[in-house]
Amino acid sequence: MQNGSTQTHTNGQTPMNITRPILCALVLLGGLVWQAPASAQDANAVAGQYSKEGADTCLGCHDEEDANYAASTIFKSRHAHRGDKRAPFGAGGLQCEACHGPGALHARNKKAESINSLKADSPQPVAQRNQTCLGCHENAARTGWHASTHERGQVACADCHSMHKRSGDPMLAKSGEPQACLGCHKQQRADFHKTSSHPVRQGLMGCSDCHSAHGSNAPAMLAKPTLNQTCYSCHADKRGPLLWEHAPVAEDCALCHVAHGSVRTALLTKNPPQLCQQCHSVAGHPSVARTANGLPSAGGAGAAFLIAGSCSNCHSQVHGSNHPAGSKLMR
Ligand code: HEC
Ligand code: HEC
Ligand code: HEC
Ligand code: HEC
Ligand code: HEC
Ligand code: HEC
Ligand code: HEC
Ligand code: HEC
Ligand code: HEC
Ligand code: HEC
Repeated sequence: MQNGSTQTHTNGQTPMNITRPILCALVLLGGLVWQAPASAQDANAVAGQYSKEGADTCLGCHDEEDANYAASTIFKSRHAHRGDKRAPFGAGGLQCEACHGPGALHARNKKAESINSLKADSPQPVAQRNQTCLGCHENAARTGWHASTHERGQVACADCHSMHKRSGDPMLAKSGEPQACLGCHKQQRADFHKTSSHPVRQGLMGCSDCHSAHGSNAPAMLAKPTLNQTCYSCHADKRGPLLWEHAPVAEDCALCHVAHGSVRTALLTKNPPQLCQQCHSVAGHPSVARTANGLPSAGGAGAAFLIAGSCSNCHSQVHGSNHPAGSKLMR
């Protein structure tokens, strides 16, 4: 394999142009600490230097493997595409050290502190660890990263993405992704266990069907510009156009629904009639509908309808109606 350090100077595209000064400074600082043992072992290995044999050097020691983890799993990912010159293992790439930084000294002293691990317990600040990845990936989907709640919340790329898992990067699988997200988002884990919930737990949907984990301009990092547009991407029938709209539906689904999970049917925020009576005035039929006398069929017969499904027994078209006589959302 090639010696990456000579190649970086000729490859203007390499991310190391951005990250290298930071990494060098860091490793040099660290170097002061390790100087004694390092020079005792090999006077030639200097902090900031890349290893001579690239991945061959690293894999000489990092051949540990178990059921979940192997350093060499990286070779199954697109990072190892030799034909892609932007990739760490493409022509002129720095291989392992494209992500882990210069490793000559580490290969000598074998100390954890002498290499950038990119792990959560790394002493390197999150922003610096992320810059390693952003040097190659601050395009397309990551343009919103710096405005994202995750960036502000000090979340690292590698808190979600894994490079060496045998099962692959959890973020790229519908089944693995929610589990990784829910590891931090405990309240949402509880919500998705409620009796009515979107089928995320069943592996039929991922969080990223509704959210952009890298940030977006929408509230709650939603994938579409508004909450309703996010819902319409699957529930297109609720979009209309409808002859008789029900105003709150077009305005905001969240006036009646929660997105993750609810102990009520159909992800409702409240059960009818209370749901409806939040808006429909306490004067006249709608409000007194809870008592026998207030319902249209005078004498109280209507109350029977209210018991089980309440308002929607009669007003069944709660999302709007296309029936010419549907103005009261009853057909
Ligand atoms: C001579 C053996 C040897 C070589 C060569 C070597 N390492 Fe290591 N590396 C180790 C040992 C031993 C540890 C574990 C240190 C510990 O746990 O205290 C380690 C730890 C690491 C860690 C984890 C650090 C942490 O904080 O947990 C990374 C990442 C790493 N090495 C990457 C590399 C890369 C990249 C290369 C090639 C440039 C490389 N290693 C070459 C022996 C080696
Ligand atoms: C030297 C440049 C480089 C560095 C550094 C780098 N990547 Fe990549 N990465 C690539 C290229 C090239 C691809 C494949 C083409 C693409 O998806 O754009 C890729 C693909 C990916 C993919 C998609 C994988 C797939 O199989 O579809 C993910 C996820 C990813 N990188 C995350 C990361 C993370 C997280 C980091 C930091 C720990 C990182 N990358 C560091 C160049 C890099
Ligand atoms: C909160 C979790 C999370 C964090 C943090 C995160 N990602 Fe991702 N990433 C995902 C998910 C989920 C996907 C797959 C769905 C998608 O593309 O939106 C993904 C996909 C990707 C892909 C492959 C698809 C593509 O858009 O090219 C790349 C590359 C990537 N992320 C890079 C990064 C980088 C770089 C960082 C750090 C700046 C980062 N990610 C931080 C969750 C995360
Ligand atoms: C695309 C970036 C990237 C490349 C290339 C890469 N790694 Fe890593 N490596 C990471 C990230 C991110 C972590 C943090 C833990 C994880 O995601 O699995 C890591 C963690 C490690 C660890 C520590 C694992 C632990 O749990 O203690 C070792 C050792 C390691 N890498 C070795 C290597 C070796 C050897 C190579 C080259 C064959 C390599 N890495 C190439 C991104 C990369
Ligand atoms: C069906 C779409 C959808 C899915 C799937 C989804 N979310 Fe959400 N999420 C939303 C909406 C909509 C909001 C905004 C709620 C609001 O502001 O009323 C939200 C808000 C959030 C919030 C902000 C706090 C809060 O509860 O308001 C977090 C955190 C969150 N979601 C995490 C997740 C995680 C983790 C997953 C996957 C396990 C996930 N979401 C799956 C639609 C979804
Ligand atoms: C390492 C922990 C961690 C992981 C993993 C994680 N998040 Fe977060 N997430 C956070 C933090 C921290 C915040 C900011 C919380 C706050 O400010 O209250 C956040 C905020 C959010 C928000 C609220 C955004 C807003 O603007 O209100 C959403 C939505 C969200 N995360 C979705 C996800 C999704 C989807 C995934 C998986 C792809 C994920 N998170 C994985 C830590 C994490
Ligand atoms: C990625 C597709 C997708 C998106 C986006 C989506 N949903 Fe769903 N929704 C589903 C699926 C799948 C079901 C389950 C259907 C079933 O079980 O038959 C469902 C079910 C529902 C249910 C009925 C739940 C029950 O227990 O009967 C409601 C209410 C709902 N979604 C509202 C919303 C709202 C509000 C939004 C926007 C915040 C939204 N959905 C976004 C796919 C989606
Ligand atoms: C005024 C309150 C209200 C608003 C606003 C509302 N819904 Fe509903 N939704 C309901 C009620 C009540 C039910 C239960 C109906 C039933 O029991 O038949 C329901 C049921 C559903 C269902 C499951 C049954 C079906 O019709 O497929 C879906 C999906 C759904 N709503 C999606 C949405 C979406 C998407 C929006 C926003 C565009 C939205 N709702 C806005 C009250 C509302
Ligand atoms: C967030 C407030 C809100 C909620 C909750 C709500 N509505 Fe409405 N509803 C409205 C508004 C606003 C109108 C339009 C009133 C108008 O045009 O005078 C409306 C109109 C109606 C109409 C047609 C009235 C007419 O004069 O044509 C019916 C019937 C109706 N709603 C029933 C319901 C039922 C049943 C529920 C519960 C499932 C419900 N509403 C929940 C706000 C709400
Ligand atoms: C037994 C059937 C029935 C039930 C149950 C019922 N409604 Fe009605 N509702 C009607 C009929 C019929 C009309 C039309 C009356 C008219 O045209 O004068 C109506 C009209 C309305 C209107 C329009 C009022 C107006 O001035 O035109 C609203 C709003 C409304 N209902 C809300 C509700 C709410 C909220 C509930 C539950 C608390 C409810 N209804 C329960 C049958 C019912």
